[in-house]
Amino acid sequence: MKLHKTEEDVYILAIESSCDETAAAVVKNGRTVLSNIISSQIALHTLYGGVVPEIASRKHIEKINQVIQAALDEAHMTLSEMTAVAVTYGPGLVGALLVGVAEAKALAYAAGKPLVGVHHIEGHVSANFIENADLEPPFLCLIVSGGHTHLVIVKDYGEFEIIGRTMDDAAGEAFDKVARAVGLGYPGGPKIDKAAREGNPHAIEFPRAKVGGSAYDFSFSGLKSAVLNYLNQAEMKGETVNVPDLAASFQNAVVDVLVTHTMAAAAEYGCRTVALAGGVASNTALRAGMDRACREAGLRLCYPSPILCTDNAAMIGAAAYYEYINGARAGWDLNAVPNLKLGER
Ligand code: KG4
Ligand code: ZN
Repeated sequence: MKLHKTEEDVYILAIESSCDETAAAVVKNGRTVLSNIISSQIALHTLYGGVVPEIASRKHIEKINQVIQAALDEAHMTLSEMTAVAVTYGPGLVGALLVGVAEAKALAYAAGKPLVGVHHIEGHVSANFIENADLEPPFLCLIVSGGHTHLVIVKDYGEFEIIGRTMDDAAGEAFDKVARAVGLGYPGGPKIDKAAREGNPHAIEFPRAKVGGSAYDFSFSGLKSAVLNYLNQAEMKGETVNVPDLAASFQNAVVDVLVTHTMAAAAEYGCRTVALAGGVASNTALRAGMDRACREAGLRLCYPSPILCTDNAAMIGAAAYYEYINGARAGWDLNAVPNLKLGER
C-alpha cells in the first residue's frame, strides 16, 4: 500500500454525471460524507423507456451548477475550503460525462485546486468504504450495475484484478429489458424487485447460463431470451402471465448465478471479505442470498445503503480521496473516456 496520509483533513468536492443523475458531494477523508446531492432525470427518461443521451447531457448542463452549490451549502463549506475537485471521466455516456468534466476543470482552475479524475466503477466499489469504516483491501467485489457486471479482486486502493465479467448484457440491463417486456417500465430493477416480493421464485424454471472462458464469467442474454420466449408463448396460447411469479423467477435465476460465482471465487482466491457494488447491489433478493451464503461460509459481507449503490457523487469522493493521497492528479486536458477500462488511467 502506497498511501501518503496527510496531517490535514482532505475535503473533496466530487462531481458525477456519467448517465442520468447529476450529482455532487463533499467527502471528508474519503469516508465521511458531508453532503450528497442527486438530481435524478429518471422521470424524464421514463417517457422514452430508457436513457436518451442527448436529453441527459442537456439536463446535466441545466442542473449541475445548482447541484454543486447545494452540495457545498449542505456541507457548510465553500469551494475555497476544498482540498481538491474530483470528477467521473469514464466510463459512461460521452456527452453526459463531458458536462461534469468541463465543470470540474473550470472550478478547479478558477479556484486553484488540484483536479482528480475518477473511474465510475472504482467509485461504485469505493461506496463500500463510506459506511464500513474498517473495510480495507484486499477483498472480493461483485460489481453489478446497468452497464457492468464484474467480479474483481480489490488488491489495494485503485488496484483491481478482474476475474469474471459478463459476456453480453450487464445484470442491470437484463433487469431493465425484462421489466420493459412485461410492461413494468423504466428503470426495471427496482420494479422487478418490488413485483418479485409478491411472487414465487420457483414458479418458472429459467436457465442458469453456463459460458466458456473464465469460470467466473457471466451471461444474461440467454435468460433474457427465455423470459421473452415464455411471454410470447403465453400470448400465443392466450394465457395471462403472472407478473410477480415471472419477476421472482427471473430474479431468482440472476441472483443464483451471481451468488454461486461470487462464493466460488471467494473460496478459490481465499477472500475473507466480500463486497457488493452498483445499482443492482440494492436488490433485496441479491442482498438476502449473499447474506445467507456468506454467513454459511463464515465470510464478512459489505454492501452500501441503496442511495450509495445507484449513481451518486459521494462514492466518487471516496474513490478520489485514495487517488489523491496516492498522488494522482489530472491535467487541464482531462477528457471524457466513454469506454474507460477498470484499472486503466
Ligand atoms: O449503478 P447504476 O445506478 O448505474 C450504472 O452505472 O449503470 O445502476 C443502474 C442499474 C439499472 O439497471 C437499475 O435497473 C438497476 O441498477 N437497479 C436494480 C435495483 N435498483 C437499481 N436492479 C435490481 N434491483 C434493484 N433494487
Ligand atoms: Zn453507475
